[in-house]
Amino acid sequence: MKPQAASAISVICYSCFAGPAFAASPLDYLHSAGRKADYVLPLTWATIIISAVVIVIVAVLLAAAIWRRPGFAYLQGEMPVLPEQGGLSWLWIGVGISALALLVTIVWTVKVLADIDTPPTRPAVTIEVTGHQWWWAVRYLDSDPSRSFTTANEIHIPAGQPVLFRLVGADVIHSFWIPALSGKTDVIPGQTNELWMDAKQPGVYRGQCTEYCGVQHANMQMAVYADTPADFARWRAHQLLSPATPQGDAALGQVEFNTYCGACHTVRGTDANGVLAPDLSHLMQRKTIAAGILANTHDNLWAWIGDPQGIKPGNLMQKPEVSANQLSSIRAYLETLN
Ligand code: CUA
Repeated sequence: MKPQAASAISVICYSCFAGPAFAASPLDYLHSAGRKADYVLPLTWATIIISAVVIVIVAVLLAAAIWRRPGFAYLQGEMPVLPEQGGLSWLWIGVGISALALLVTIVWTVKVLADIDTPPTRPAVTIEVTGHQWWWAVRYLDSDPSRSFTTANEIHIPAGQPVLFRLVGADVIHSFWIPALSGKTDVIPGQTNELWMDAKQPGVYRGQCTEYCGVQHANMQMAVYADTPADFARWRAHQLLSPATPQGDAALGQVEFNTYCGACHTVRGTDANGVLAPDLSHLMQRKTIAAGILANTHDNLWAWIGDPQGIKPGNLMQKPEVSANQLSSIRAYLETLN
C-alpha cells in the first residue's frame, strides 16, 4: 500500500471519529507506533487488501452473470443463449481460492497472536483501567499501596517500555482500544482481562471505547500520553502529592465542592473521597475533561460543571443546584488542583 493511499484512508478515519479535544492525535489504526502494533499492522493491511480483492472479483463476476443471464437477453429482444454445461468447476475454483486465502490468514493470525502474547521485557508499570459509563478510571498499581494512585481518561506511560494493563468493567461491557499501540480488548464486569502495549516514541495516542455501552458510548474516549522515562517519573511522583491548600475564593470553593461533589469525586488529602466519579486530585494536569470530549479550559469547566446533562446527556453527573457565585468558587478551587 502506497503511503498516499494509507494517508487518504487515515484522513477519512480521522474525520469520522476525531473528537474536538484530541484533534491533534487522530484515532489511527493504519500506522503503528509500538512494537506490538508492528506485528499486527502487516496483517491488518493484508486482510484489508485480500478483502478488497475478493469484493472486486465477486462484483465483476456478479455483473458478468447478470449481463449474460437469459432474462437479460429477453429484455434486449433477443433469444437467450443458454450457458454451457460444466459451470460446477468454477465453484471448485472459487472454493479453492477462498480456502487458500482463509488458510493463509488463519495461520498468519495465529502466529501474530503468539508473537504478541507476552511483552518482550518485564512491564515497567501495571495500570488497572476500569470502564464506567462513560469514562475510564486509571489506577497505577504499586507493591507499596501508599504509592498507588488514581487518575482518569488520560494514561501516562514511559515511552520505549512495555506496560501491563489490567482491565475491569464497573457496569456494562466496554472495550479498550488504543489503535496505534495495540488491538482492542473487552472490559467485562466480573473478570480481569490483561493486555500489554508500548509506545516506541513519546507522543499522544488516542483511544476510544469500542463496545457499544449506552448512549454516550461514542463520547467515552481516552488517550495514552507516552512520556520520556524521566518525564514519566516526574509525572508519577507529582501524582502522589496532595494538592496545595487553596486560598481565598478557591478555599470557599473547596467547601462547596466537598458539599456538592465530594460524595462522588476524590481529591487526595481532603474530605472529598467519593469513588463513583473521576478522581480530580490533579485535574489541571489533564488536557481534557468529560472523558476526552472537551478541552480542559476555563470556559469548558464552567460549561461542564454548570450543565453536564446538556453536554453529555444520560451521564451520572447531575446539574448541581448552586448559584453562579458558588459555581464560580467551585471552578476556582478546581483550577488549583495542579
Ligand atoms: Cu464504553 Cu462503549
